[in-house]
This record gives sequence, structure tokens and C-alpha cells, in this order.
Amino acid sequence: MNNITAAITAVHGEVPNKVLSNKDLENMVDTNDEWIISRTGIKERRIVEKGETLSDLGAKVVKEICKKRGISPLEIDMILIGTVTSDHRFPSSSNLICYKSGATNAWGFDVSAACSGFIYTLVTGQQFVESGRYKKVIVIGADIMSSIINYEDRNTCIIFGDGCGGVLLEANDEGNGIIDSVLKADGGGKEFLNQKLGGSAFPITKDNVGHSDMYVYQEGRTVFKFAVTNMAGVAAEIMERNNLTGDDVNWLVPHQANLRIIDATANRMGLTKEKVMINIEKYGNTTSATIPLCLWEWEKKLKKGDNIVLAAFGGGFTWGSVFLKWAY
Ligand code: UT7
Repeated sequence: MNNITAAITAVHGEVPNKVLSNKDLENMVDTNDEWIISRTGIKERRIVEKGETLSDLGAKVVKEICKKRGISPLEIDMILIGTVTSDHRFPSSSNLICYKSGATNAWGFDVSAACSGFIYTLVTGQQFVESGRYKKVIVIGADIMSSIINYEDRNTCIIFGDGCGGVLLEANDEGNGIIDSVLKADGGGKEFLNQKLGGSAFPITKDNVGHSDMYVYQEGRTVFKFAVTNMAGVAAEIMERNNLTGDDVNWLVPHQANLRIIDATANRMGLTKEKVMINIEKYGNTTSATIPLCLWEWEKKLKKGDNIVLAAFGGGFTWGSVFLKWAY
């Protein structure tokens, strides 16, 4: 049996400086601060200034991770990134981030799994480390949601924000690192959360440019029901598989889509609020970036050996959970 696990050995996050508050949104669409806070838990979110790209944020994350770990970007073997808002259809953001961060010995690719992007990508990176083929793999979750949001649609523009977080994965022989994962997919969910135009099925043409289908569409109430059931379900499943009770789990790191979904997941797991990482009030839903941004903000509180459960649900539908032991 392979006794090498892939463990997180460094973490960093980057968010744009520009704040978009609930008050700002009140001037853009028919909404109000009280409604947004009570229905979602969000007070403000960050969005990029014109010209600031996902690969810019990603390159900063890579450089900072290397600095923290005391290594050169030239030592990085792979950079994988979960995102649905890559700088371009191609080249991939991984490709650009390798170049912009000076990680020119690395290769990698982008993974598309919407809000489950970080979890899907983390488990992908885990395989390359555990196989022994690669030693230093950076896994990023990042999205520039402001690039695909219709700021005239109050159903979606109040929820999403921009952000980027990443972790370094390295081999661990102390029993820490990624222990287990459960990943799920159901493409039947595509009707309820999507960005219809811009892919090869519905390319943007001169006739449809400007149509609302260019932007994110979400049937909020339906997605909410699926998210509550499935995110809590998969977190409970991973606890059961690993004989964990609520007392055994030190931290839940939930995807930050809606405070009510987070609360439902924590309840199902039997966790008190102090064990749940929540920063949705500051950043909103940054899609693939929510989980690594939490890990970055909570890094100083984490202790070696802490039992941590990650859980996400997103467009696709995609959902999943990871059980890991903190390694430093
Ligand atoms: O991250 C990936 C997966 N995504 C999710 O997990 C998101 C899941 N969904 C949600 O978080 C919630 O469904 C939303 C936050 C999107 C919406 O909350 P909701 O409690 O489900 O509201 P709703 O869509 O059922 O709308 C309730 C009412 C409606 O009015 P009526 O029909 O009851 O008169 C909406 O028109 O609130 C109205 N409404 C708003 N009012 C003020 C909808 N959006 C807004 C708004 N401001 N921004």
C-alpha cells in the first residue's frame, strides 16, 4: 500500500482591491442591503479593475506560495487551476500563470467544475503527487465572476465576486495530507445554472452579442435545494466513510455560496459554528476561489494533524468533499 499522501504545505490568497458593497448594488438594481444579508450573508464582494486578469492574481499566488515555502518558482512541477473564467478560451490560465510567475519548468491545465473547481483540481493534483511522478504541484481555485455577470440581473449580481487562492501540494509520510475524497457530477443540472453563450454549442455571433445568455443564469431556488441536500450529504458521507463524528472534525471549509447552505451543512455534520470557516460576508461567492481563500485566512489558526473537511456544490451540477489532515 502507498503510504505517501499529498499534503498542503503552503497556502496563499489574493483578492482585488476594489470593493462592491451592497449599497453600491442598491444603486444598480432593485435590491437592498437587508435583503442581501438576510438571504445570503453577503455584505460586500471584490471585483477586478479593468485590465486586471485571473492570470495576474494566479501569478501573485504562485510567487507568494514559493516565497513562503522558501523555494524558487523554477522548482514547481505543475500548476493546475480550477476556473470557469479563464483569461481566454485558450491558451489556458495554467499556461499563462506558469509564464507570468516564472514557473517555466512547470506544465499544467485548467479544470472546469464551477464552484467545485478547487475540490476537483485538488484531487487531480493529489494523484500526481501520490504517484511519485511530481514533487511540487500548485493547485489554484480562481474566478473573475465579474467578467460573466450581468449587473442588471439582481438574481445573480448580488452573489458573485472575484478572487484567487492556491495551495502547494507535496508528499507527506507522516499520515497527514489528503486522506479521502468523494466527487460527484450530474450534467442534468445544466438548465438551472449556466453561461449559455460563448462555448462551441452557442458561439457568440454578431446577432446574439449583448443577449442576456452571454451572462450567468441561475434559477436560485432550485439550485439552493440541490445545494443544501448534496453539499450536506457529501460532507456527511465522507465523515461516515472515515468514522468521524462532529467532535473529531476540527474545521469545515465550505464553499461560500450562501450562509444558509453553510449552516445546513454544519448542522448535518454536528458541528458548532466556531469550527466553520466563513468569510462570505467579505467576498461573496468567488466560485472556485472560496475554499482556498478560507484556508488562507484561517492558516494561522490551523494546527498540524487537524481534521479538516472541505465541501462544495456548484454548476454542472458538480459537488464533492475532501477529508484532509493539516500537515504543518
Ligand atoms: O455557488 C454555486 C451554487 N449556487 C448556490 O448555491 C446558490 C443557491 N441559491 C441561493 O443562494 C438563493 O436561491 C438566492 C440567494 C440566489 C436567492 O434567495 P432565495 O431565498 O432563494 O430567493 P428567491 O429567488 O426565492 O426570491 C424570493 C423573492 C422573490 O420575490 P417574490 O417572487 O417572492 O415576490 C424575488 O423576486 O425575492 C426577490 N428577489 C430579490 N429581492 C431583492 C430576488 N433577488 C432579489 C434581490 N433583491 N437581489
